[in-house]
Amino acid sequence: MTAAVPAYQTDALIAEDIDAYLALHQTKSMLRFLTCGSVDDGKSTLIGRLLYDSKMIFEDQLAALESDSKRVGTQGQEIDFALLVDGLAAEREQGITIDVAYRFFATEKRKFIVADTPGHEQYTRNMVTGASTADLAVILIDARKGVLTQTRRHSFLAHLLGIRHIVLAVNKMDLVDYDQGVFDAIVADYRAFASSIGIADFTAIPLSGLRGDNIAQRSGAMAWYAGPTLIEHLEGVEVDADADRGWPFRMPVQWVNRPNLDFRGFSGLIATGSVRPGDPVRVVPSGRTSSVSRVVTMDGDLDEAGAGQSVTICLADEIDCSRGDVLVAADAPPQVADQFEATLVWMAEDALQPGRAYWLKLGTQNVSATVQPPKYTIDVNTMAELSAKTLELNDIGVAEVYTDRGIVFERYGDDRDLGGFILIDKVTNATVGAGLINFALRRSQNVHWQAIEISREAHAAQKSQRPRLLWFTGLSGSGKSTIANLVEKRLHALGKHSFLLDGDNVRHGLNKDLGFTDTDRIENIRRVGEVAKLMTDAGLIVLTAFISPFRAEREMVRAMIPDGEFVEIFVDTPLAVAEARDVKGLYKKARSGELKNFTGIDSPYEPPEAPDIRIDTTAISSEEAAERIVEHVLALGNDDR
Ligand code: ADX
Repeated sequence: MTAAVPAYQTDALIAEDIDAYLALHQTKSMLRFLTCGSVDDGKSTLIGRLLYDSKMIFEDQLAALESDSKRVGTQGQEIDFALLVDGLAAEREQGITIDVAYRFFATEKRKFIVADTPGHEQYTRNMVTGASTADLAVILIDARKGVLTQTRRHSFLAHLLGIRHIVLAVNKMDLVDYDQGVFDAIVADYRAFASSIGIADFTAIPLSGLRGDNIAQRSGAMAWYAGPTLIEHLEGVEVDADADRGWPFRMPVQWVNRPNLDFRGFSGLIATGSVRPGDPVRVVPSGRTSSVSRVVTMDGDLDEAGAGQSVTICLADEIDCSRGDVLVAADAPPQVADQFEATLVWMAEDALQPGRAYWLKLGTQNVSATVQPPKYTIDVNTMAELSAKTLELNDIGVAEVYTDRGIVFERYGDDRDLGGFILIDKVTNATVGAGLINFALRRSQNVHWQAIEISREAHAAQKSQRPRLLWFTGLSGSGKSTIANLVEKRLHALGKHSFLLDGDNVRHGLNKDLGFTDTDRIENIRRVGEVAKLMTDAGLIVLTAFISPFRAEREMVRAMIPDGEFVEIFVDTPLAVAEARDVKGLYKKARSGELKNFTGIDSPYEPPEAPDIRIDTTAISSEEAAERIVEHVLALGNDDR
């Protein structure tokens, strides 16, 4: 049967239909590869030719293609293969932002998934998506142009993302008269570059996508070339997935399968190694051990399951294990750490905010993480290391990453599944970066929590109060400090144990080194949050008066404190009113340009969307405001746990 298997645009879509496709060619091995190049290099034509020559196209699609080619007036008798690929893409374009198009085809010997990444500005992001699962990259070169900046970029990214097999496809050989000299010069040029970035080996093939030279058929016009055709090479290349890499068993737990009290299993996709009933296993990060009692699948129990298989594993003992944990061979546990050096690829329009908390997703593990200012960024054209304060769209840089708890990982160079992660913006939920773990920082493995015997509860009980963090936010001159001060006086008079941290004061001591850039403000709030948290641990009612202009950092502090103890108080004074008051004369300076990055003028303020208390200072006095806040706190009571 000749069946065209449709192209897919997203990873999410793949899973469903891929099964039908794979069933057709079950016994064949699979090669996932990526094509890198631009439309000008003839990428669409090459992919179209691969699909056409492997005959994985519906007959009617073929007929349509032939007539379309005539209509657009392709020269001579050739079919315009680019039309085929573009047609497939257009079908799915509605409603989806296409980043990577996946296409399937098969030959007698092997089945293939090709990730086609559009080459325009978003190339880095697209390549990261396509390359993270690819075994091989085809780097396309136009024989008339030779090695270009984009060839270097693509090669660097492919190498960085762990693709160990590179094909240098020197295309459009027909346009240089099939000249061996041209080919040899390009190969020599590329070899010099490749070795400079650590690509030890690659396979260069002279070809013409348009005419089909050295794609499926050996070219009569290039008798001087003795190597394989592109399809021969793709069919024959041995990739890691085929070979047993000898890795120990690892399976991130996707979910706990507990349909009834008699069955409890841990479901997931085996990342590396294999597992059999009886094998001793360990749950990380907790370190608990047990042994495998059954390996269950939809089609019954297995005697053994290996990398790439989805299974449910039952254990001999009832031990704690949940989504995000990793089941591993007991004698070869992976590493656990909470501080790393990573290579990051930034994929969002908004630059990285060092110090801001993002979600970090590594396999099934999801933790909160912050990125330090980059050590350097890499100029992918020259490979130079540049100093930088942040990462902009498409930037690649190296930075330290801190997570709020230990995660199971491997170096990306050793294991792409447990070494690669993505960063997600907590407010917009968009994927903003991808990271490759280089190594864990040693200090992260040597600093442990010290168990303290006088607990948070004991401190609070001694003061007969529930700790709180009353977080005042608002523009400069909105009245935060004035109101916070009145609130503290009232609480003090009521016998409460409190402490007020005020922006201007803290900036004279602990945060003396910080200014008013976004990065410094984020760090200001992070430190204040940590101090306030310690003070609530000591049982105090803490009041803070900081502009704290960003939602993300206010939410970060909220998340650090036990539920219900964080009270966000929005001192809502319109800019015009605060500016008219101008108690410290700073608005005047900011308007004249003497003071830069002033909140409300040339630095943003993100008002709270759902504050616990909102104070409209144009409607009530500071005294009334303080009264309302104190009432709110007293109403929360001492014991609402
Ligand atoms: S925050 O943005 O990092 O939360 P913080 O509350 O600590 O700011 O400090 C704000 C105070 O610093 C203001 O009330 C004002 O007195 C002073 N200040 C000096 N320069 C600026 C500036 N560029 N923007 C805002 N406030 C400034």
